[in-house]
Amino acid sequence: MLQNIDTILEEARQFKAETKEEVEQFRIKYLGKKGVLSGLFRDFKGVSSEQKREVGLKINQLKQYVADRIETLLADITEESGNEKTVDLTLPGPSLLSGARHPVSIVRNEIISIFGRLGYTISEGPEIEDDWHVFSSLNFPPEHPARDMQDTFFIEKDPDILLRTHTSSVQVRVMEKESLPIRTISPGRVFRNEAISARAHCIFHQVEGLYIDENVSFADLKQTLLYFAREMFGKKVDIRLRPSYFPFTEPSAEMDISCQICGGMGCNVCKHTGWLEILGCGMVDPNVLEFNHIDSNKYTGFAFGMGIERVAMLKYQVRDLRLYFENDIRFLEQFQAAY
Ligand code: PHE
Repeated sequence: MLQNIDTILEEARQFKAETKEEVEQFRIKYLGKKGVLSGLFRDFKGVSSEQKREVGLKINQLKQYVADRIETLLADITEESGNEKTVDLTLPGPSLLSGARHPVSIVRNEIISIFGRLGYTISEGPEIEDDWHVFSSLNFPPEHPARDMQDTFFIEKDPDILLRTHTSSVQVRVMEKESLPIRTISPGRVFRNEAISARAHCIFHQVEGLYIDENVSFADLKQTLLYFAREMFGKKVDIRLRPSYFPFTEPSAEMDISCQICGGMGCNVCKHTGWLEILGCGMVDPNVLEFNHIDSNKYTGFAFGMGIERVAMLKYQVRDLRLYFENDIRFLEQFQAAY
């Protein structure tokens, strides 16, 4: 009889059910009035008194096992069918947080695309540079303050190896390598030894442009920059050029755009002037052309340079430069809709 109980137990273990009906049949087969267990209890009466204890224990264990098994089988089935009922396959899936471009990348791409439409190529160069490409070939006098330790991060002295302070160095490399005419923009990261504040950072990004050909004039520069300003900030934007100074351009100018917030009426963003400064520009100094073996009697050119963060600040009305470097997701998320 003990062996018989073991066989029954093994059978019950093997049993699998997919529907509630199958479990019910399983229950009736084992626990029903005329079921297996009733049969065993009946037979139990005839068991010898020495064996009664052991057999009784086994039968009770079997009964308990079958009862437990029924419960787990039912639980598995209701769990599955429960799911079927609550999952609505027509519902939209949970939305995933998708990444977005950094505002500096968005603005850089837009600048590249605007000048691309004017036929400018893109050029890139090293961030670690020598004195010649960053300063000397660009007509910086030896005592110019930009060369000073206070402005430039030096890596080595004599010969000077440094982190570029502007991407004009890339344009020198283009003048060295490429044939004329040149029409190129150089986007990239630049480094200046400045205290970090809302308006200044020791790392930022620039796009500089260079156009050299025969008969390039200041009028061409003005028209190019007006086109850029209107593509970037809207058709209603006006520009103005103020005389300025850069060692590598002559004449030099700084360009302002009309304030889009007050429409030129004056507000606290434009400090009540109606204008916002955006870039530096000018006609390439003949010295720079000659340093780079370009005949300054035959060729003229213009150059311009702007900070990408500055353009982004004007475009998105973000007043604190530091936000562009902190990678705070709450700030970056807001640019998801932008392309
Ligand atoms: N290189 C200048 C700067 O870093 C910008 C500039 C470029 C000005 C070309 C004039 C012409 O600020």
